[in-house]
Amino acid sequence: MFDYDAELVRYNTHLQATAGIQPGDQVLDLGCGAGQTSRQAARSARAGSVVGVDVSPDMLVRARRLADEEGLGNVTFEHADAQTHRFEPQGFTLAISRFGTMFFADPVAAFANIGSALRPGARLVQVVWQSADRQPWVTAIRGAVAGDRPLPPELLGGPFSLADPAVLDGVLAQAGFVEVEITDVQEPIHYGSDATKAHEALTELGMIEFLAPDLDAASKPQARDRLRTVLEENETSDGVWFDSACWLVTARWAG
Ligand SMILES: C[S@@+](CC[C@H](N)C(=O)[O-])C[C@H]1O[C@@H](n2cnc3c(N)ncnc32)[C@H](O)[C@@H]1O
Repeated sequence: MFDYDAELVRYNTHLQATAGIQPGDQVLDLGCGAGQTSRQAARSARAGSVVGVDVSPDMLVRARRLADEEGLGNVTFEHADAQTHRFEPQGFTLAISRFGTMFFADPVAAFANIGSALRPGARLVQVVWQSADRQPWVTAIRGAVAGDRPLPPELLGGPFSLADPAVLDGVLAQAGFVEVEITDVQEPIHYGSDATKAHEALTELGMIEFLAPDLDAASKPQARDRLRTVLEENETSDGVWFDSACWLVTARWAG
């Protein structure tokens, strides 16, 4: 399974520092994946609690196992679609998300639903990707596997759907959030301890199909070879890293 924790380790520091989780917080982690951010939140919210939600049952199995192994008694994980799930009204003092909020079909409705789970004045702290053309991890890898063909438009509705700060600001304001602040944060992301491991991880993740969905089967072996080459070019003594850019976004629920 692709290791998002390793990939996103540098962004974690920004998210946790900005969230500033207090011992008594009741934290909601949106699109929690394998739950690293939920577990970190649980360690900070010692007298409070954390609920991680995700639509992926596989991720949640891993999240529960890791929290159990650590003996964390104040974190639970729910299989829930954050867009529509009936959260306990005003049940949380803080919502966080590490790249888990960009996949909503109707983002205004989704963030309004998330807001309804927050106490008035509670903060939402999240990181989302900036646009694909500002991501060396996209341009370098996509360039390698798919040449200079443009990014398929359907991808813009996925991980990059909140990349435009004006759109992001408008979505959160329409959903009922105030004091929206959007900060440019640029950190490298980690793809593996060496090019071979990174190649395995990205192939398993379906990165070639994600970045070049129109590539025919006959062209894939060469694309895999070019992917390996670009990974080797970005290999350091500390693993394979690519530059990237995200928005660190804070907002307050008006209530
Ligand atoms: C890029 S991963 C990030 C996972 C995790 N936050 C992390 O940083 O490791 C995005 C996650 O969001 C989840 N997700 C996507 N849409 C969702 C939704 N509507 N409700 C809840 N989770 C969702 C996916 O299943 C996936 O685990």
